[in-house]
Amino acid sequence: MKPHSAWHALLILPTLLGMGKANKMTDLQILDTLLTQYDRRATPSNQWNNATVVDCELYIRSFGSINPSSMDYHVDLYLRQTWVDQRLNHADIDQPLDLNDPNLVKAIWKPEVYFPNAKHAEFQFVTVPNVLVRINPHGEILYMLRLKLLFSCMLELSKFPLDAQICTMEVASFSKTMKELELRWKSEDPIKMYRDLRMPQYEINAIRPSICNESFYIGNYSCLVAEFSLQRSIGFYLVQVYLPTILIVVISWVSFWMDVDSVPGRTTLGVTTLLTVSTKSS
Ligand SMILES: *[C@@H]1O[C@H](CO)[C@@H](O)[C@H](O)[C@H]1NC(C)=O
Ligand SMILES: *[C@@H]1O[C@H](CO)[C@@H](O)[C@H](O)[C@H]1NC(C)=O
Ligand SMILES: *[C@@H]1O[C@H](CO)[C@@H](O)[C@H](O)[C@H]1NC(C)=O
Repeated sequence: MKPHSAWHALLILPTLLGMGKANKMTDLQILDTLLTQYDRRATPSNQWNNATVVDCELYIRSFGSINPSSMDYHVDLYLRQTWVDQRLNHADIDQPLDLNDPNLVKAIWKPEVYFPNAKHAEFQFVTVPNVLVRINPHGEILYMLRLKLLFSCMLELSKFPLDAQICTMEVASFSKTMKELELRWKSEDPIKMYRDLRMPQYEINAIRPSICNESFYIGNYSCLVAEFSLQRSIGFYLVQVYLPTILIVVISWVSFWMDVDSVPGRTTLGVTTLLTVSTKSS
């Protein structure tokens, strides 16, 4: 029995020494202790009975495929939300803690937002789920998600191809009414575009963040909307449509110089012009 307990003492010794030296817990251990009494169903301001304010920011990484037949467009974006959760405030957390562990992401309260005008949405999972939770000192939480979305956009095409469109992206609270959750745009520059963003047929004229509070019989919900004013670039249609059509029409005038009696020649030219124009526009 003797050697066995000696081994035991040897094994325990470093642990005892270590505990004496560093009784300061690591940030992750602090977080674990904070989470033991954490109720993720309660909003951070539940105890004061007022709304939790969540600041939102969009970073648009790609924008395009505006489809007039299905009236929608594809977007790849980062949604960044920040709020203060005093339950995750601890004096010993003195530097930001970046985490993307799915279990931790699940364990804390997050704003339940959705995209009212999205037809389809997907999380991005390659190579890891594209989500980040940053716990800053003083309980400030940053929650970032990367999403692939298909938004509906009602295009007004009566002036085509000289049209301008307004497409929107809405972000709203799904389950918490305005008494519990208030969404706000980040105070400065809340909608950012990737610097090299280009679209083949449109130019983005202006981006306007605004508010679209929704009032239903069951409650009032906080809602944010980003409006994108798009202007169709006429260059594409000049080269692809206007120029060829003008040339075909000019060529059809050749029949005025033809002999009055060469009826087959003039007829062929007229019919060919008609067929070409009708094929082009289909
Ligand atoms: C809610 O109440 C707390 C404590 O009184 C206060 O710090 C916080 O700013 C309030 N939030 C809102 C949105 O009024
Ligand atoms: C939306 O609701 C917020 C919070 O109650 C309020 O401050 C804001 O003025 C409302 N905006 C509109 C356009 O109704
Ligand atoms: C929603 O807001 C309107 C105007 O602020 C108010 O009259 C109405 O009672 C609210 N509805 C609910 C369900 O809180």
